[in-house]
Amino acid sequence: MTNGFGIDLGTENLKIYSTSDGVVTNVKNTIAVVDKDKLYACGDEAYAMYEKAPESIAVSFPIVNGVISEFDNMQSMLIRVLEDQVNAKIKSADVVIAVPTDITEVEKKAFYDIFAKSKTKTRSVKLCEKPLADAMGMGLNINEPTGIMVVDMGADTTEISVISLGGLVLSELLPYGGNKLDESIVTYLKRNYNLLIGQKTAKALKEQIGSAYDGKTDSMVVVGRDVVSGLPVERTIDGTMVYEGIREDLNSICQSIKIILERVPPELAKDIVYSGIYFTGGSAKIEGLSDFFTEVTNIKVNVQKNGDETVAKGLGRVLTESDFKRFGYAMKTRIFS
Ligand SMILES: Nc1ncnc2c1ncn2[C@@H]1O[C@H](COP(=O)(O)OP(=O)(O)OP(=O)(O)O)[C@@H](O)[C@H]1O
Ligand SMILES: [Mg+2]
Repeated sequence: MTNGFGIDLGTENLKIYSTSDGVVTNVKNTIAVVDKDKLYACGDEAYAMYEKAPESIAVSFPIVNGVISEFDNMQSMLIRVLEDQVNAKIKSADVVIAVPTDITEVEKKAFYDIFAKSKTKTRSVKLCEKPLADAMGMGLNINEPTGIMVVDMGADTTEISVISLGGLVLSELLPYGGNKLDESIVTYLKRNYNLLIGQKTAKALKEQIGSAYDGKTDSMVVVGRDVVSGLPVERTIDGTMVYEGIREDLNSICQSIKIILERVPPELAKDIVYSGIYFTGGSAKIEGLSDFFTEVTNIKVNVQKNGDETVAKGLGRVLTESDFKRFGYAMKTRIFS
């Protein structure tokens, strides 16, 4: 039986594809540490402690803006999740890790070193460019001479890329995604309704009644603090209020896509117009997103269902399909040697 793992270290979620059963395990990419370096909890358990933990427990997200910001935490958490939740036999495993394209070599090397410089070594470790994994995970054949535009809207990042013949023609990593939408909901409700809510509540509002169009009437009851009286209050929030909060952010992502489209060589632009832009990542689940973007760009938009899993699934294809194997590459152990 094969023992391969495709690993997508997201800012919010850690996704692991296992070749033995084709299943993607998705847990919060969160770690709780006590006494500076003792792992106390990780994954969903640690996320439940976020914004609630006492000072003695440090809860953090080891990936920030798509890159590793806490190397040791990321390493110990990943090994723990592989052993405990994925039942991986790490020593005989082949792993492929996704990396954003628009980052430095040093930042990429940190992803490689998670296993290359670990006491718990895997049989092999490879990297794969995230936009390529996204496209493969959406079932596209990236080896063909056809222009493909992929937009991955994650939690802390939005990666916009154009692919042709298995290579990246353009790629830009914007430092905002779903988390920015949550922050904007918090700001909007505070400014317009004197209501202060937590980030997790804002996220729930966005995921449950958020939309990329005006007039959604669904509502949700939340508890926050009244800014004037300072006391906790219960309020009903409706879809229109959430939309008003996130409208500007959706617009700016749209404008960034337009700017990239203007830089695409004409022959590839033609392909993109025919096939449409491929949207993926967890934030692409927001209702009505395709119509919103089509209205501004005039181009068809295909939104991937379960977009948060496409990178991990694409890495699975690198591990199992000979046509895509070449997209996994090793790195030099020393960059400056
Ligand atoms: N139904 C939904 N509507 C809107 N947003 C959603 C929905 N479901 C999930 N999200 C958002 O998707 C984001 C997480 O997606 P994903 O797992 O792709 O991010 P990530 O890979 O961890 O982040 P990044 O790629 O930026 O490093 C979160 O911001 C979450 O709120
Ligand atoms: Mg992601």
